[in-house]
Amino acid sequence: MPVSFKELGLVNTKDMFADAMAKRYAVPAYNFNNMEQLQAIIQACVETGSPVILQISAGARKYANATLLRYMAQGAVAYAKELGKAIPIALHLDHGDSYEQCVSCIEYGFSSVMIDGSHLPYEQNIEVTRKVVEYAHARGVTVEGELGVLAGVEDDVQAEHHTYTRPEEVIDFVTRTGVDSLAIAIGTSHGAYKFKPGSNPEIRMDILHEVEKQLPGFPIVLHGASSVPKDIVDLINKFGGKMKDAIGIPEAQLRLAAGSAVCKINIDSDGRLAMTAAIRKVMAEKPEEFDPRKYLGPARDALKELYKHKNLDVLGSAGRY
Ligand code: G3H
Ligand code: 13P
Ligand code: ZN
Repeated sequence: MPVSFKELGLVNTKDMFADAMAKRYAVPAYNFNNMEQLQAIIQACVETGSPVILQISAGARKYANATLLRYMAQGAVAYAKELGKAIPIALHLDHGDSYEQCVSCIEYGFSSVMIDGSHLPYEQNIEVTRKVVEYAHARGVTVEGELGVLAGVEDDVQAEHHTYTRPEEVIDFVTRTGVDSLAIAIGTSHGAYKFKPGSNPEIRMDILHEVEKQLPGFPIVLHGASSVPKDIVDLINKFGGKMKDAIGIPEAQLRLAAGSAVCKINIDSDGRLAMTAAIRKVMAEKPEEFDPRKYLGPARDALKELYKHKNLDVLGSAGRY
């Protein structure tokens, strides 16, 4: 039985983005695959008074089970209230790769979907995105499209180089598809290895500004926005990890982007790093432990601290609710 996100107490991204645009901050979009990640996200966002977009990828649905994840998101709404604050929570499909996948998520109660046609030829990207928008908008669900290809791994596709978004295409794409937000490629990339050691870790703010000029007041999304904090990577390596030359987007650049038309910033890898570091530490320092709560608990705490820091010091989403 299809369920509407409204029955689950979730919201779509419309009002969230309107507020973020007016007040010049970015809404955090954090991925989750399990209970500890979801708890950390909700605790951090309630404690900082931040709206949040809970992201589920196709990989997450495969890993955790689509039904379980849907009930977990529903539970998150009640959990936030129980913690003392009814923050706005959207449930979003991250990198939807087909119309059918978007429909399935909407039937499971997602309030927002991304249709990622960025690897397709331009006209095909428009065609599939418009089809998703038609289905989604009829149900009050918001849609994110993407133009340009991020370097690094986007699902199974390995892009060697960035194909930056072409600002001259954005008006045509947005008008013909009817999307509610647009993900752009300006030099961010997925994963923990975003720049070569010794290279300049800079994103193309000039392209972002050009896009803003073309689409005044239109919500822009940044994927691949983890900062890969050095202290966390060092901790992983100290406790037996092997993560050489992991480099992310400097926080100062994300702060600048959040103050522009960028209304949604996607962060997944930093959370993975924080959990891994905490788990490695327990494993190394207390080899006698075998209760998962003894290592997943500290991992959850580390994740919560990381997200609080993002909301407060990077995205500017803290204290909005
Ligand atoms: O952009 C991708 C997200 O980090 C989700 O990653 O497909 O491994 O779940 P995943
Ligand atoms: P990171 O790998 O930089 O965390 O990006 C996550 C993302 O874009 C999810 O869609
Ligand atoms: Zn992404």
